[in-house]
Amino acid sequence: MALPENFLSKSLARVQPSATIAVTQKARDLKAQGRDVIGLGAGEPDFDTPDNVKAAAIEAINRGETKYTAVDGIPELKEAIAAKFKRENGLDYSVDECFVAPGGKPIIYNAMMATLNPGDEVVIPTPYWVSYPDIVLLAGGEPKFAQTTIETSFKLTPDALEAAITPKTKWLIFNSPSNPSGAAYSRDELKKLTDVLMKHPHVWVLTDDMYEHLVYDDFEFVTPVQVEPGLEDRTLTMNGVSKAYAMTGWRIGYCAGPKELIGAMRKLQSQSTSNPTSISQWAAVEALNGTQDFIPKNAAVFKGRRDLVVSMLNQATGIECPTPEGAFYVYPSCRGLIGKKTEDGKVIDSDEAFATALLEQEGVAVVHGEAFGLSPFFRISYATSTEALEDACARIQRFCASLK
Ligand SMILES: Cc1ncc(COP(=O)(O)O)c(C=O)c1O
Repeated sequence: MALPENFLSKSLARVQPSATIAVTQKARDLKAQGRDVIGLGAGEPDFDTPDNVKAAAIEAINRGETKYTAVDGIPELKEAIAAKFKRENGLDYSVDECFVAPGGKPIIYNAMMATLNPGDEVVIPTPYWVSYPDIVLLAGGEPKFAQTTIETSFKLTPDALEAAITPKTKWLIFNSPSNPSGAAYSRDELKKLTDVLMKHPHVWVLTDDMYEHLVYDDFEFVTPVQVEPGLEDRTLTMNGVSKAYAMTGWRIGYCAGPKELIGAMRKLQSQSTSNPTSISQWAAVEALNGTQDFIPKNAAVFKGRRDLVVSMLNQATGIECPTPEGAFYVYPSCRGLIGKKTEDGKVIDSDEAFATALLEQEGVAVVHGEAFGLSPFFRISYATSTEALEDACARIQRFCASLK
């Protein structure tokens, strides 16, 4: 039965369903029909959660840690978060400046819902993680896109940042290493951006550091407050266990920032999800406080896959694939193929047409760049087995060579 007219909210009408989830679903559906499909759309590590983390969760269940907790997280986890920021980032956050939510995404959602009013602008560099603009729209704000280019390795330049800021700007959402481009900012590159931000004291920074631990070739990760301590009283530093510890399903994200903002986010969370799952919180305590052996092992595997994918894609006709510093994504250009035709006469007139034809002809699912706000590109997630990646890249090479 159709819903009654005007039943759905106007704010929901402002947002799009996630394109990455849509591609993953399409690949799943084709597989279910018996097609041989390799899905390179999903943004989660293919590794299992480390055993010490699983054991901590099982112990928590057996101890009876199965009740409501404080809305913004158990003290043990907030202490582990403050210690992590000190140990890994040199940042001094007190426990009451730390906050836990059911995933990284709810941190962004809470921060935007707690602060945005109609007309408030949020600067989002493109290509962006698909959820940023939609969360801003849901919260009643206006996304303001700051374009990057392949020539600057998809990194925001100080001029582009300056040009995007207006008197209405409330936040900059900053993400390094980036989903979807994998680009990560060096200390020097970031300092040039924080210098711009220091000139605009009304602009707050939400830094999404989810991929902090996925950086390669001795790249040194830095976060804005580390580079410019003067930004501390207007920065929300966000992170989580999803990507670093292969814990996407556990739903734990965390952040630290000014107490008043944390208090506002706590108020919102108390009337929405309440506390994140108690058992997952105990698992996250072990992830942050326990052995960190998993991280370099994981990163070494990802680095090998990145190198394989970049090399094979650069051998494909019409594809240009930069080597990103981190995350588990590459963001190649398909500009060299725009205007060509498939064997059955379909014109490749956009990155979406490229991704659709690639899926239909060769069974490789990638996400088109338009979904991330920058065309003509596509995103490949290399968080899948090396054999599947080799096979997928060989199919992409064959597909590109077949275009006329
Ligand atoms: C850049 C970025 N931020 C945040 C998230 C959300 O993380 P979580 O699964 O913890 O909500 C993701 C997940 O894909 C991401 O890529």
